[in-house]
Amino acid sequence: MKKNIIPHSYNISLQDRRKENKHNSFLLWFTGLSGSGKSTIANSVEYKLHKLGVKTYALDGDNIRKGINEDLTFSPEDRKENIRRISEVSSLMIDAGLVVLAAFVSPYKKDRDNIKRIVKDVNFVEIYINTSVEECERRDVKGLYAKARAGEIKNMTGISAPYEAPENPDIEIKTEQESVEESAIKIIKYITPKLKLNHE
Ligand code: ADX
Repeated sequence: MKKNIIPHSYNISLQDRRKENKHNSFLLWFTGLSGSGKSTIANSVEYKLHKLGVKTYALDGDNIRKGINEDLTFSPEDRKENIRRISEVSSLMIDAGLVVLAAFVSPYKKDRDNIKRIVKDVNFVEIYINTSVEECERRDVKGLYAKARAGEIKNMTGISAPYEAPENPDIEIKTEQESVEESAIKIIKYITPKLKLNHE
């Protein structure tokens, strides 16, 4: 089937949209255990970007899994498909000229490498939200760790399923040592040159 699909080329390009928006577009990918603080930090970063006039969109595991990916479980194959679809959606949003903030556990290195391939290396910023499983379990905001310990949830990352920590993330945040505000500022500082705000 694929061989009969010929993409149409549109007159308005990504460069046109970036110029119109007065900033670059790319993907901020937050990875880490459930309850590590990915969404909280992404939320704070998005707020700061919004105040700078940057057009953004946030994608989040708990929301996406209620919509476009409601057919997927937490098996390794389904997590792979989860991340692949989100990467393709992110790629479209980058093309639309947005700064995308995506917060997903994404526990497998291979799947995260695949994101980079889909959205292209230059558009990908990997942010490792490094919170120990002990701390996530202590916080247990959603009560999922207790359920996993009781055997009510299978394949729980950090308990009964693996988390492969990034070896070379662009940014690493240790939430047991850094506040949400400090973390967000650190991320904004890192991406400022990449944003090319107000560039012609
Ligand atoms: S991923 O592994 O495929 O990237 P994703 O980020 O979409 O996961 O979804 C993770 C969210 O689903 C967690 O924040 C948590 O609220 C919920 N969840 C439910 N079951 C599990 C599980 N077995 N492992 C991890 N997260 C789970």
